[in-house]
Order: sequence, then C-alpha cells, then structure tokens
Amino acid sequence: MSKPMSKKKRRKSAAASLSAHLMPVARMILIAIVIAAPVLAFAQNPLANDPKAAKAGEYEFRINCALCHGLGARGGGRGPDLTRPVKKHTHSDSDMFQVISNGISGTAMPANGTNGQGVGMTDKEIWQIISYIRSQEAKAPAQALGNAKHGKDLFYGDANCSLCHMVEGKGGRLGPDLTSVGGSRTRAAIIDSVRDPSRRLAWGLTEATKEFPQEYESVTAATPDGKEIKGVTLNEDSFTVQVIDANEQIHLLEKDKLLSFQKSRQSAMPKYGIDILSDKDLEDIVAYLVSVGAK
Ligand code: HEC
Ligand code: HEC
Repeated sequence: MSKPMSKKKRRKSAAASLSAHLMPVARMILIAIVIAAPVLAFAQNPLANDPKAAKAGEYEFRINCALCHGLGARGGGRGPDLTRPVKKHTHSDSDMFQVISNGISGTAMPANGTNGQGVGMTDKEIWQIISYIRSQEAKAPAQALGNAKHGKDLFYGDANCSLCHMVEGKGGRLGPDLTSVGGSRTRAAIIDSVRDPSRRLAWGLTEATKEFPQEYESVTAATPDGKEIKGVTLNEDSFTVQVIDANEQIHLLEKDKLLSFQKSRQSAMPKYGIDILSDKDLEDIVAYLVSVGAK
C-alpha cells in the first residue's frame, strides 16, 4: 500500500528531475574542465622541482626546437634566443606551454605536432622542455646592450637602413619590415644579416599553401616591351612572380611572357663591412631593433 507523496517529498523529486535535465549540460561542462585542465591547472610548471625534467627536456629540445632556437636555446638563424630574461610572448610557464602547444600564428613558430614534429609531444614532454629552457635561462650571461637611442639615429640617418626597411610604419619597403625582427631573431643573427646579407636571405611571406616561405631573392627580368626590371621577389608561384624594385614599384610578371628571367641569392642589401659601420654602432642599431621588437 503506497502512501500519497508528502509535499516535501514531491518538491524533492521535482528537483531530482530538474537535475536529471541538467545532467548533459553539467557533463559537458565537466568534460570541458577536464580537457582544459592540463593548461588551466598549472600556472607554474608541475615539474619545476623535478631535477630530471630539464635533462629529459634537453633531449626533446634538440629534436624539436634546436633547428630554429639553436643548441642551448640561445637562438639560431630562424628563432629567438629563449634564454633572454624578458621575452616577447611568454612571461609565465603557462604562457610558454600555450605558445609551444599552439605555435604563434603568422610566424615560423609551429604548433606542437606540425612541421615535421610527427605526432607531437605529450604535455609532460612540453613541461620538461620548459624546465630545460628555464635551466638555460638561469645559466645565461647578462648581456651588455648598446645604446638604442643612438641606434635609432643611425638607422634613420647615417647608416641608411630606413631607405629599405620600415620600423613601426616608417621607412622603405624594398627590404623586410624590421619592426619585430628584434623579438624574433637573435642579436647574433641580426648582426650576421647586416655583415653578410647573402649568407641567409630573409623570409618573406609564409602561407599555409606554401611548402616553404618566400625568400627575398634578387631578380632581373626583361619584359616583352624591352624594359629591364631589377628587384626583390615578394611572392612567386609556377606562373607569376611579384617583384618590388628600388623605386618601390611593384610588378606582377607572367613568367612565360618574359624575354629573360634570372633569380639570384645575392642579397639586394649592401654588405656593411666594419669600415662602413663599426661594431659599436651596429650594436647600437641592434639595441634599437631589440627595444622595438620586445614591445
Ligand atoms: C621552424 C622554426 C621554429 C621551431 C621548430 C620552433 N620555434 Fe619557437 N619560435 C620560432 C620563431 C620564429 C619565434 C618568434 C616568433 C615571433 O615573435 O616572431 C618563436 C618563438 C618561441 C617562443 C616565444 C619566445 C618569446 O619571446 O616569447 C617560445 C617559448 C618558443 N618559440 C619555444 C619553442 C620550443 C620549445 C620549440 C620546440 C618544441 C620551438 N619553439 C620550435 C621558430 C621556431
Ligand atoms: C638597399 C636596401 C637596403 C639597405 C640600405 C639595408 N637593407 Fe637590410 N635588407 C634589404 C633586403 C632586400 C633584405 C632581404 C634580403 C636579405 O635577407 O639580405 C634585407 C634584410 C635585412 C635583415 C634580415 C631580416 C630578416 O627578417 O631576416 C636585417 C636584420 C637587415 N636587413 C637589417 C638592416 C640594417 C640594420 C640596415 C642598416 C645598417 C640595412 N638592413 C640596410 C635591403 C636593405
């Protein structure tokens, strides 16, 4: 014999059925929290106190990162020095985790698991790499920086860099915009680009559809109407090439219509020997570019 439900009991079961309705939503939220947990749960490296983590991270770093960031994380031709105390994108360990996982879009910094990194690293391996970077940071010598203000004067004045390069919207267009170069490449790599421009040509456009980024190769072309065009490639595919000349005129050329077309890996940038630009002045220019690039 069941008794009629008391008022209290009835209220309780209404609540139960409401919570049953909410279940899928609650479950979704819970799943979302669980998925986000590895990133949200640690503002700090969970392996920070594990002495073996940095050693394991060094191994991972060599395989996945040293190509661009150099051995010892002190920077290479393509990526910045990660031992700098002040970095551009990353302050906390969790920023670093985020950048290593997702890459930095619009730059050469790849997301985990892309760019030949196979299936990618596990969360634990990423934290190990962060341990390694922090350990290298601790060992890095404090760097004496040049005089950025004097460097800026040279850049826009005597050294003529601004004839071809823009920084923060001011300057020429024949060469790449240098606003972020101080944050994305090392001091040594920038110095090398100035002393010996042809050794490694700057990367231009990076596009998902391109296997390799466009390089600033030099071009000489003769058009059917008898003009000679000399400049630097901005973009190129199988049929066309886009060239900017010394007057900052942009030409879109159809390759099969050209009378001649030559590309060269001789940089359009003059070589700045020590006789033209002293080491000290170049340090100052680099200090200027680093001060802008770190913003
Ligand atoms: C193909 C080249 C390339 C590879 C491989 C690469 N990086 Fe980078 N990385 C870059 C570049 C370029 C930047 C700078 C992006 C910018 O600001 O223009 C960068 C930026 C970073 C930053 C941010 C630095 C800052 O100043 O805040 C971190 C951290 C970093 N990389 C870590 C790694 C780690 C760890 C690996 C290996 C798992 C790796 N990178 C692999 C090219 C690369
Ligand atoms: C006549 C034009 C011209 C002048 C003057 C010039 N550059 Fe360049 N620069 C270029 C071109 C074109 C490139 C791309 C090809 C290359 O990498 O050499 C370039 C590349 C660079 C790069 C490499 C950028 C990258 O993203 O890798 C740096 C750094 C640079 N220049 C700095 C300077 C500085 C500093 C000065 C002044 C001391 C200067 N340039 C003067 C034309 C010029």
